[in-house]
Amino acid sequence: MKDQPTFLDLLLEAHIGLERQGPGSRETVEKALGFLGDLSRLENIADLGCGTGGQTLILAEYLTGKIVGLDMFPAFTRELDKRAAEKDFDDRVKGVVGNMENLPFEKSSLDLIWSEGAIDNIGFEKGLSQWRAFLKEDGMIAVTCPSWLTGVHPEEAEKFWTDAGSRLDLVEDNINIMQNCGYQFIAAFALTEDCWTKNYFEPREQAISGLIEKYGNCDTVRDYAALNRREVELYLKYKQHYGYVFYIGKAV
Ligand SMILES: C[S@@+](CC[C@H](N)C(=O)[O-])C[C@H]1O[C@@H](n2cnc3c(N)ncnc32)[C@H](O)[C@@H]1O
Repeated sequence: MKDQPTFLDLLLEAHIGLERQGPGSRETVEKALGFLGDLSRLENIADLGCGTGGQTLILAEYLTGKIVGLDMFPAFTRELDKRAAEKDFDDRVKGVVGNMENLPFEKSSLDLIWSEGAIDNIGFEKGLSQWRAFLKEDGMIAVTCPSWLTGVHPEEAEKFWTDAGSRLDLVEDNINIMQNCGYQFIAAFALTEDCWTKNYFEPREQAISGLIEKYGNCDTVRDYAALNRREVELYLKYKQHYGYVFYIGKAV
C-alpha cells in the first residue's frame, strides 16, 4: 500500500504546479511597481518567500536588475529556476533556498525587497525591521500582508489566522509599524477579490481534488482539504473585513 502523505507532502504537491502559492495577480504587481519610481536604478532585488516565482517572473519582465527568489522549500526554488530558464531569464533570476529570518545577503546591498504572502509567517514588524538592514539607503520595499480592512474582527476568522501562525493588524497600524521600522510610507492598497478566488483558491481547489482522487480515503488528505476549504469559506464570508494589502515603502 502507498505510504500516507504528510501535511507538508500535500502542501507541496498541491502547490508546486500552481502559478502562485498565495493571493495575487499580474495587475497588482504592476500597480505596486508603479509606486517605485525609476525602475532602471533597481539593480539588486530579492523576492522573499517567492514560492515557484509567479510574481518573480513578472518582476523580471519589468526590471533589468538581478533577482534572487528566496524560499524555504527547495522544490519551489528549483521550479522557479526551471520557469526562469523557460523564459530566458536564467542569467539574472535565481532561486535560493533560505530562511527569511536569516537572509543570505550583504547588509545595505539590496535596491528592492519584494515579498508576497510570506511576511506574516515571521510577523510584519519583525520582517520589516530585520530586512531594513539589507536595503541600501533609498532602497524600496513592497510586501503583501493579510490585514484587517475594518474595525470588525470576526472571531472565527481571527482564530483561523492565529492558528495558522499569522497575526492580522489594521492597515493604519501596519503603516505606523512600517514608519517605525525605518521606512517612508509610500502607498498601501488592498488586493482585489479575484486575486484570492480566481488566481489562487480555484486552481488550488482543482489541485486538491486531484489529491483526493490520487490518495483516496486518507485522513491526512481529508484534513488538508477541509482546512483549505475552511479558508475559502471564511474569506467569502468576511472578505469585507480582511484581505491582503500591498505595503510599499522606501528605506530612510
Ligand atoms: C503563501 S506562499 C506565497 C508564495 C509566492 N510569493 C506567491 O505569492 O505566490 C508563502 C511562501 O513563503 C515561504 N516561506 C514561509 N516561511 C518562510 C521562511 N521563514 N523563509 C523562507 N520562506 C518562507 C513558503 O515556503 C511559501 O512559498
